[in-house]
Amino acid sequence: MLILGIDTSCDDTSASVLENGTKIISNIISSQTEIHKKYGGIVPELASRRHIEMIWPAVDEALKTAGVTFADLSAIAVCHGPGLIGSLLVGCSFAKAVCYSKGIPLVAVNHLEGHIFSPFLEEPRPSFPFLALIVSGGHTCLYRVDGFGKYRELGRTRDDAAGEAYDKVSKLLGLGYPGGPIIDKLAKNGNPKAIDFPRAYLPESLDFSFSGLKTAVLNFLKIAISNRQSAISHKNSNYTHNPPPPPLEKGVFINDIAASFQASIVDVLVRKTEWAIKKERIKRVTLSGGVAANSELRKRIKEMGEEREVEIFIPSAPLCTDNAAMISAAGYHHYKSGNFAGFDLNPKAYMPL
Ligand code: KG4
Ligand code: ZN
Repeated sequence: MLILGIDTSCDDTSASVLENGTKIISNIISSQTEIHKKYGGIVPELASRRHIEMIWPAVDEALKTAGVTFADLSAIAVCHGPGLIGSLLVGCSFAKAVCYSKGIPLVAVNHLEGHIFSPFLEEPRPSFPFLALIVSGGHTCLYRVDGFGKYRELGRTRDDAAGEAYDKVSKLLGLGYPGGPIIDKLAKNGNPKAIDFPRAYLPESLDFSFSGLKTAVLNFLKIAISNRQSAISHKNSNYTHNPPPPPLEKGVFINDIAASFQASIVDVLVRKTEWAIKKERIKRVTLSGGVAANSELRKRIKEMGEEREVEIFIPSAPLCTDNAAMISAAGYHHYKSGNFAGFDLNPKAYMPL
């Protein structure tokens, strides 16, 4: 059974052919990073325009790489939300048009459901029930998963998603977009204990909050810059107009901020997962979403798993970030359950799982 998956929820145009729900035959991802990085974040209008340009080439390449045509497909699975509405519209309109003209069944997949099913694309696969920690640019949430379609939300972010915090802090530090991989790399040469950034544990709750951390980094930077400025003013006190302070150098200082910021995010994510394990008495955890590509988070979750004798399932990095194979994987279960979408399918920016 071959399912073509399509994801255009954010800034990547992705198409994938999956066999029997788990075997990736092709997984094409056309990244828009080059377009958005000069703005320090995603520009929704530019994202949807680029999806329009790339949807055919991405689907064409996915089919060609797999050596199949539309006639070989059992269904097309498309992500219909949550995400950027203009971006989602491109994938949904495309999938509906192809399904209608070629007589192919259509299935609709929630993006978060896709992230939940990404660990099934590689060995070893988790069995039910498990706890799913999804950490991405748009979401940070914990689910209890008892089977396909049986999801219970245990906690979610009350403000910024973890990936959003990475991207915003990277912008504050003038490091570029997307911030996650850049901070991940710099943090390797920094001291995670250099700055004691706050950890919002929100006692008694499995919710998350990362906006205070972002403000703490901003305040730390303001103080660092003003200390620097007064040091320079002092040095140049015989001048009437003091020269502006030089920009913060990249190097040890920035590495320490990166490592300390990352330590705060990872500590909270790991601790909350431990709480969920205790509360739900489940000894299996999956980690997915773009931030699951983070080297420190992967390491710390695995260490926690070893300590607590909990099985941990983390997809390889390209399957953590947005991709259409995960949409095909969840779509396979919709197909098997006979859960088809009609041609009145409309995408939604906000969509609970
Ligand atoms: O899952 P994803 O590709 O898109 C959404 O559904 O949001 O996640 C993108 C997010 C971005 O915020 C990006 O900075 C973050 O994942 N990310 C990382 C890493 N790689 C990507 N964050 C931390 N460390 C990484 N290595
Ligand atoms: Zn995602």
